[in-house]
Amino acid sequence: MALGAASKVAVVGLGYVGLPTAIGFHDAGHDVWGVDVAARTVRLVREGKNPTGDPDLDGLVPAPGTPRWHVTDSTHEAVQHCDVVLVTVPTPIGRDLEPDLSYVEAAGRAVFAAVPEGQHRTVVLESTVYPGVTAAVWLPLLDEYGLEHGRDVTIAYCPERFNPGDAAHGVRSVARVIGCADPAVGEALVDLYRRLTTEEVRYVGSIEVAEAAKVIENVQRDLNIALVNELARILPAMGVDVEDVLSAAATKWNFHRYTPGVGVGGHCIPVDPYYMIEGAANVGVPANLISAARAVNRSMPMHVANEVRGLLYKAGVPADDNRVLLMGWSYKAEVGDPRETPAEPLAEALMDMGVHVGAWDPYLDGGFSEGVQVHSTLEDASGYDLVILVTAHKACLEADWSALKGRMRTPIVYDGRRVLDTARLDELGWKVFAIGKPVV
Ligand SMILES: NC(=O)c1ccc[n+]([C@@H]2O[C@H](COP(=O)([O-])OP(=O)(O)OC[C@H]3O[C@@H](n4cnc5c(N)ncnc54)[C@H](O)[C@@H]3O)[C@@H](O)[C@H]2O)c1
Repeated sequence: MALGAASKVAVVGLGYVGLPTAIGFHDAGHDVWGVDVAARTVRLVREGKNPTGDPDLDGLVPAPGTPRWHVTDSTHEAVQHCDVVLVTVPTPIGRDLEPDLSYVEAAGRAVFAAVPEGQHRTVVLESTVYPGVTAAVWLPLLDEYGLEHGRDVTIAYCPERFNPGDAAHGVRSVARVIGCADPAVGEALVDLYRRLTTEEVRYVGSIEVAEAAKVIENVQRDLNIALVNELARILPAMGVDVEDVLSAAATKWNFHRYTPGVGVGGHCIPVDPYYMIEGAANVGVPANLISAARAVNRSMPMHVANEVRGLLYKAGVPADDNRVLLMGWSYKAEVGDPRETPAEPLAEALMDMGVHVGAWDPYLDGGFSEGVQVHSTLEDASGYDLVILVTAHKACLEADWSALKGRMRTPIVYDGRRVLDTARLDELGWKVFAIGKPVV
C-alpha cells in the first residue's frame, strides 16, 4: 500500500496536538482536512487564527483560501476526501481519576460511519492511551458499522510526543513510532510520517507496543519528578538544600537531574500515569511505584500551601488577613495552558485556609479558580504578604521585583520552581524562601 506525497490527510481534533500536526502535513505538501467539534476552534482556525494557548502556533495557521487547506466541523466530509485519518482527541481522566475514553470512541464512531463503501481508510490514533485501548475501543465499532478490518479500514497507532512551548521539539522535529498489525500499512505510515518530521520514524510492530511506549515515557517523567519532589521535602528537614544536593549529585556521569516544584500539570504527565494504572489493574497487576509517584506529585500543592501558611505565621502576618499572590498560573513556562495546573489545587488549599489569593499570568486571561483575584497586569497587584513563583515564565523571572516589593505589605517570596535569583531578591529586601530549601 502506498501512502505518499499525494495522500490526503484528515486530522480529527484541532487542539494542541492536532492543529500543529495538520499544519505540519500541509507544509509537507499534503491536502489536509482539519476537523473539530468545537465551534470556536473551527471558526478561529478558518479565520487563520490560533485557538490554542501555544504561542508557537501564532502566525502559522494558514489563511482562509489557502490551497490544500480545509477546516470543517464534519468528520464525515473530511473522511470522504482523505486516505488517512489521524485522530488527536483528548484522553483526560474523570473526577475519580479513571481514564475517560469517550472522546476516542466518539471520534472513532464519526470516522467509521463516514468510510465510503468499497474504499479503504487508514485510521491512526495519536491520543495517549494504555496498551490495548485502540483495538479494544475501535475494533468492535468496525463490526457495528459493517466494516472489515484490513479490507475497509486498517487501524494504527502513532503517539504524539511534541512539547508545547518548546520550538525545538515541535511536531516536525520529534521522532515517531508506529504500531500496526499489518506491517505493510505500518511501513506505509512510516513513509508518510517521514514527510512530517525530520527525526527518526520507526515501525515498532504491534499497536500495543507503540501505545505502551508513549505512556511509559510520561510515567518515567512522573517518577523522576516525584523523586526530586520527595527529596525536596526530606532534605530540608535534615538542614540540607535539595538544589545543592542535586548539583553535587549531577557531577556523576549517570545521575539525571530533575527540578522540584509546586506540582506537575498539563494534559500529559499528571494524567497519563492513571492510564497505565488502569491498564495494569485490568490485567490484575499492581502498579505500586507508579501510584506512589502520582501520590507524591499530587501532594505538592498542599505541601507548598502548608509551608507558605507557616511562613506567614512566622512573619507575624495576622492569621485572619493573609494575602498571597501566585505569579504564573499556566502549568508550564511560556504556554497559556491552565489544564491540570498545580496552581489550582494550591490556590484552593490556600483559600480553604482562609488566605486571600490573587494571581497574575501574562499568558492567560481565563481559566483561574473561582474566588481568585485575577490581575491583568503585575502593576495592578498590591498589598500582598507573600508571592509564590508558580510558573517560570520569562516575564515572571524578569518582572520588576524592586517595584513589586514596593507594593507588598510584607515582602516575602517563595520560589516554587527554583529559578529565581534569590541573592538579588535578598539584596532588594525580599525575604526569600524556596521549595526544598531549609527555612533559616
Ligand atoms: N498537549 C500536549 O502536549 C500533548 C502532547 C503529546 C500527546 N498529547 C495527547 O494528545 C491528545 C490530544 O491532546 P491535546 O492537548 O491536543 O488536546 P486538546 O484538548 O488541546 O485538543 C483536542 C481537540 O479535539 C477536539 N475534539 C474532541 N472530540 C472530538 C471529535 N469527536 N471530533 C473532532 N474533534 C474533537 C476538541 O474540541 C479539541 O479541540 C491527548 O491524548 C493527549 O494526551 C498531548
